Amino acid sequence: MISLQELNALPAPQFVAALAGVFERSPWVAERVASARPFASVPQLHAAMCAAVGSASLDEQLALIRGHPELAGRAAIRGELTPESTREQQGAGLAACSPQEFARLQELNAAYSRKFGFPFVLAVKGHTRASVLEALQQRVGHGLEEERATALREIGRIARFRLAELLADPLGVRIIAMAQHLARFSEDSQGLTCTYLTPAHRATAAEIRDFMLSAGLEVSIDAVGNVVGRWSGADDDGGTLVTGSHYDTVVNAGQFDGRLGILLPIAVVADLRHAGLRLPFTLTVIAFAEEEGVRFKSAFLGSRALTGTFDTAALDSVDAGGTSLRQVLEDAGLDPAAIPGAALDPRTLLGFVEVHIEQGPVLLEAGAPVGVVTSIAGSVRGVITLVGLSGHAGTVPMGSRRDAAAAAAEIVLAVERRCSGTPGLVGTVGQLHVPGGAMNVIPGHCQLSIDIRADLDEVRKAAFADVMADVERICAARGVSFQWQRALETASVPCSARLQRRWAASIGRAAGIAEPRHLPSGAGHDAMVMAGMTEMGMLFVRCGNGGISHHPAESLTAEDADVAARVFADFLLSYA
Ligand code: GLV
Ligand code: MN
Ligand code: MN
Repeated sequence: MISLQELNALPAPQFVAALAGVFERSPWVAERVASARPFASVPQLHAAMCAAVGSASLDEQLALIRGHPELAGRAAIRGELTPESTREQQGAGLAACSPQEFARLQELNAAYSRKFGFPFVLAVKGHTRASVLEALQQRVGHGLEEERATALREIGRIARFRLAELLADPLGVRIIAMAQHLARFSEDSQGLTCTYLTPAHRATAAEIRDFMLSAGLEVSIDAVGNVVGRWSGADDDGGTLVTGSHYDTVVNAGQFDGRLGILLPIAVVADLRHAGLRLPFTLTVIAFAEEEGVRFKSAFLGSRALTGTFDTAALDSVDAGGTSLRQVLEDAGLDPAAIPGAALDPRTLLGFVEVHIEQGPVLLEAGAPVGVVTSIAGSVRGVITLVGLSGHAGTVPMGSRRDAAAAAAEIVLAVERRCSGTPGLVGTVGQLHVPGGAMNVIPGHCQLSIDIRADLDEVRKAAFADVMADVERICAARGVSFQWQRALETASVPCSARLQRRWAASIGRAAGIAEPRHLPSGAGHDAMVMAGMTEMGMLFVRCGNGGISHHPAESLTAEDADVAARVFADFLLSYA
């Protein structure tokens, strides 16, 4: 391996030579990006190389595709592959085809190249012989243009895997670049929105899978869409430590909420493997598919599936477009009936740890890059539907109205009043709708959400009871009826004292902070669900920009990501 820094400093011809194997027999790709140096990260270099391919002429693109050997083809048998291709094809077990598999492969390869005029290109990492054959069979059915695009996409994936083997870049910078890369997959063009099982969400899962494969993890995607990466330990009976966080986001989100806790462990695993290290236990890195509760009202779908607490009644809940969760799963090729089978076996678990951006100002104000989480606040969340009477805005006298929106407005203020002034207690109305509202119609219907949280369960419960009493009083006085539909209620969860001590010790060793900051989490996390199954601990990383989160201005520095990654590495290495 060489470092990205060294690569950046090479004279152009050596730079091109160093990257010669990345795009098969096509040095022009490296030539075209040489002048764009220095690259800050490997993902950035990869993006530039893929962009160069994307803007090349059709002839050049075709030549690049044709530069690839057939999979398990004659060149492979004659030993004429590049070293990169040889390793990759052997890795997928293609050297060990049965005579039938080999015949089928040859037959499909021939049909493919007759149809398209170029060889079948596939990034074989993570594939088995059977899945290679399946992909080949499916792609023979493509139209020419679709297949050319697919081949180029696969070439981009191959390049990512090859770059990961070739280059080392600074951990923190790489983690930030990976998060920036994932943020390109969004439901809206302006910011980052990635809600459960939308096309952006599924594309994000595919990218995370590739990041995991690059790092040398074995990857599977479970029945709710969790991407599960496994680094098996030196000792088969050494148990499994689980880490991870969520990849879904709120609407117009920041880039690090959830994703940091996926990408940081992936980056750390890659570096530990490259250093020739192996843990005595298995490490499982989970990218939880759903935590935020945005698309369907129920949150934590990913961690609930893994802890065997997925409520199958949620399958009938519908999104804003009226599509049921069950349907959404099936459309994504996932099997709702298989969800109970996705649960982890608690007997094998050594614990669950989650790295998360703080999403608040405590570490920022304390001048600390990382901190140990002591507990996660409990919460109650749901929707109130108000029904009054709609009427003419110009004719109904003010005294005889049953205005549902005016009742909602009073409720918003009641939540704010009740949840102010008590340490650790917060209350929010984040959604407020007047369905079918018009400027000249008195609102007959209104819907609002309520979210109340506290680190102490008694405090949260008392506040919620008072707020509901206020709702009753306000509605009675206005002749408005109401219905409360609870979406979520979670108790406050303490982090394991033992894991807090371990995090603190790792912060001391890896970050040189003898007495690290300990702080509670006001935000909910997958960790609180995982705590129902195994011992749980969390590491918070400083959030910039005043600590803002659930907002596009959420920020994290590469230096802090680097410190957190070194702390995490120490945590792993000392965990046995
Ligand atoms: C998750 O981000 C939550 O705390 O709402
Ligand atoms: Mn969040
Ligand atoms: Mn989060």
